[in-house]
Amino acid sequence: MKAGDSASLTQPDPVVAEAHDLARTLGPVALIAIGIGEIIGAGIFVIAGTAAADHAGPAVLFSFIIAGLGCLFAGLCYAEFASLIPESGSSYTYTYATMGRFMAWFIGWNMVLEYLVSASAVAVGWSGYFISLLNNLGIAFPAAFANAPIAGPGFNELHFTGAIMNLPAVLLIVGLSVFLVIGIRESSRLNAVMVVIKTGVVLLVILFGLPYVSSANMTPFIPPNEGEWGRFGLSGILAASGLIFFAYLGFESVSVAAQEARNPRRDIPIGILGSLFICTVLYVFIAFVLTGITDWRTLNVPNPVSFAVGTIPALSWLVIPVDIGALAGLASVTFIALYGQSRVFYAMARDGFLPKLFSAVSPRYRTPLPGTVTTGLVAAALAGIFPLDILADLVSIGTLLAFIVVCAGIMILRVTAPQAPRLFRTPFVWFVAPAGVASCVLMAVSLSNATWLRLVVWTILGLMIYFAYGYRHAAPSKWKVR
Ligand code: ALA
Repeated sequence: MKAGDSASLTQPDPVVAEAHDLARTLGPVALIAIGIGEIIGAGIFVIAGTAAADHAGPAVLFSFIIAGLGCLFAGLCYAEFASLIPESGSSYTYTYATMGRFMAWFIGWNMVLEYLVSASAVAVGWSGYFISLLNNLGIAFPAAFANAPIAGPGFNELHFTGAIMNLPAVLLIVGLSVFLVIGIRESSRLNAVMVVIKTGVVLLVILFGLPYVSSANMTPFIPPNEGEWGRFGLSGILAASGLIFFAYLGFESVSVAAQEARNPRRDIPIGILGSLFICTVLYVFIAFVLTGITDWRTLNVPNPVSFAVGTIPALSWLVIPVDIGALAGLASVTFIALYGQSRVFYAMARDGFLPKLFSAVSPRYRTPLPGTVTTGLVAAALAGIFPLDILADLVSIGTLLAFIVVCAGIMILRVTAPQAPRLFRTPFVWFVAPAGVASCVLMAVSLSNATWLRLVVWTILGLMIYFAYGYRHAAPSKWKVR
C-alpha cells in the first residue's frame, strides 16, 4: 500500500494498532492520571530550582502561572485535533493532515526533541537525585562519573568540566531501553502507582514545608533586575517561564488517548484541563515552599527539592522519601519519553520520512527493535555528555514550535474543513488559538540565543535528511480532513 492511500487509515499496523484496538475504557479520572503521570518530572524536581536561583527568585511562582496558561491554550487546540484525526502520532500526524509533507517533517523532527532529548534531560535529572540518595546513605559516587563533561550556556561558552560522563543517566536509559525492546509496557496500573508516589511526595513537601516558609526568604518577592535581560525583574519572570514550560510537557498525551476515551468529547478536555490545573496548583505551592524555606539563591543544585527540605533540621526525615519519590517519578517519565520516541520514528518511517528500518518490528519481541535501540543509544549519549539546562531548553524550544503550529493548524482547519466531524471543539477558538500562538512565541523568544542557534543547527540537519530521503519517499499529503 502506498503512503497517502486513504485505505491506510483502516489498516492497523502491528505496533500502533494496539492503541486503536483498545476498548474505550478511559474515564475522566484515568485521563487526568495519564496527564499527571507524564507531566510531573524534572521540571519541578530540578528546573524549578535553577529558574528561581538564576532568573526569577521567589517570583518563579508567576513563571509557573504564565507557562501553565500557554499550555492550557495549546492543550485545548490539541484536544480538537485529537478528536478529528483517527491516527496516532500526535502533532506530527495533525500537521500532515493540515499542512502537508514539509511541515509534517518539520514537526516530526521537532518531536524528536520533544521525546528523545527530553528522555535524556529527565535522565540527567534522575541522576542528580540518585547521587543525592547515595550521598544521604553515606555512599560516595565519583564526581567524574556523575556530571556532564560539557557545560556552558552559549555556543562560545561551551567548555569541558573535567568530568568523564554522567554514568547514572546513561545506565538508566540503557536499562529502560532494554525493557522497551523486550516489550515491557508501563501499564496504566503502574502509571497510577507512579502518580500516587510523585504527587504524594510533592504534597508532603508542601504540607510539611508550609509552616517553615519565612517572609525573610521571600523579600523582595521580585528581586531587582541585575542589568542583564532575564536575570531577575520582569524579564527574569519571563525567561523563567520559558524554562518552566518544560515542567508542563506531557499533557498532550491526554489528547493522544482520544481513541481510548469513553466519552472523548467531554473527557479529553477534562483530562487536559484537569491535569494541567492540578499540576499548576501543585507547582505554584511547591515553588512557594521551595523559595520560602530556603534562600532561593542556593537552589541551583541537581536536587533542589530534597536540598531545600534538608536545610530545615525538623524536615530532614523527608530527604530520603523525596529522593526516592523523585527517582521513581523521573524514571517513569524517561520511560514514557523513550517509548514515545520509538513510536514517532515508527510512524515517520511508515510514512516514508525515514528508512524503513525504523518501522521494522522484531518478530521475536513484537516491538520496533531498530528504532528503539537507535533511540536508546542517542538518548544515552546525549544524557552522558550534556547538562540538564542545555537539553531541557532544546526540548522546550522544539515543543513550543510544535505547539505554535498546532494552534495555527486548528484555525486553518476551521476555515478549510468547517464541516469535518469534531468530537471536541476548542471553545472560543478565535481567542484561544491566537492566545496559544502568542504565549508560545513569548516563551520561545525568552529562551537564550544559544538555544535558538542549536535549534537552527538541528533544523539544518533535519532539512538535509528530508531532502536526501523524505522528500523522495513520503507522499505530499495524507489523511485529508474534509
Ligand atoms: N514535564 C516533564 C518533566 O518535567 C517533561 O520532566
